[in-house]
Amino acid sequence: MTGLSDSFQRPINYLRISVTDRCNLRCIYCMPSDGVSLMSHGDILTYEEIYTAALAAAELGIDKVRLTGGEPLVRSGLPKLIQMLAHIDTINDISLTTNGLLLSRYAAELKQAGLQRVNVSLDTLKQDKFEFITRRHNNLSDVLEGIETARSVGLNPVKINTVVMAGINDDELLDFAAKTIDEEWHVRFIELMLPVGVSTTASQFISVSNMRKRFKLLGELESCLPSVGNGPAKYFRFPQARGTIGFITPVSEHFCFGCNRLRLTSDGKLRPCLLAEDEIDLRQPLRSGISSNGLKQLIEEAVARKPLHHRLDEGYMPKDRPFTQVGG
Ligand code: 5AD
Ligand code: SF4
Repeated sequence: MTGLSDSFQRPINYLRISVTDRCNLRCIYCMPSDGVSLMSHGDILTYEEIYTAALAAAELGIDKVRLTGGEPLVRSGLPKLIQMLAHIDTINDISLTTNGLLLSRYAAELKQAGLQRVNVSLDTLKQDKFEFITRRHNNLSDVLEGIETARSVGLNPVKINTVVMAGINDDELLDFAAKTIDEEWHVRFIELMLPVGVSTTASQFISVSNMRKRFKLLGELESCLPSVGNGPAKYFRFPQARGTIGFITPVSEHFCFGCNRLRLTSDGKLRPCLLAEDEIDLRQPLRSGISSNGLKQLIEEAVARKPLHHRLDEGYMPKDRPFTQVGG
């Protein structure tokens, strides 16, 4: 198999699948306060449709899949989808991005179904701030328990995704960093993006270079390799730390030259780039019985339509969909 590559010779081997636009939280950087209009059930691809699309993609060379949302664990029967995807021989990495609230309940079942690892979104270690950021009265301890359960059932490495916001959670940077020293936490700090409709503002943005200055208090960061995955984060660790720190710079320094991915939205559109509005519909073709070859042509077309890079630095942000429909 030769695999997929786009018009800029980037190899494309990674598909992110959003399985639902629904979420049990309302994070300020992700949603407007009154939520977003939700898709109806008929709009959402069935697990069989997702499987058919993933199989065609795998036959073209996609070998890594990540399930995203919304919050993927609010869609019922998710382990069943994982089991179906795990049956595709050439897919060798299946992962999940979750807010962790339901993780302790499902971790064992997910692992059993063939899930390899999870990323957990967690922006604070304080209960009151957790409620402020997520705009819901849930227990932070459920997320922390989810992280521990995921680890104990072997969904490793568990990575923590932390969106850093000035005046909101930047006072906790060192607390998160300490977790990477004392415990085996792998924390990735993400620069805040401002897609349409979110409740965060540009004044809350903090660049990675600013974050890094604040870590000097804890010692020198040594650069290191990622334990698994080939995403956009750059990894470091403090001397003798058990875990790692990653930095993701969508805003200050784009990493598009290494882009290896396609996205499938929960309503069945292939999206060549998170930050561009272009999409190719798979749902209608899937529902009218398109052949596997026909599907592959559509996937190849989406790959060919990948832009060289996003245009955040020109102030361009797509306006068509919230991140909850694309999976971040
Ligand atoms: N800025 C940066 N990251 C975001 N995510 C969602 N919205 C944003 C945003 N505005 C990412 C975060 C979150 C995951 C679900 O998607 O990492 O943890
Ligand atoms: Fe839900 Fe994730 Fe968006 Fe928060 S960031 S509202 S957990 S989808």
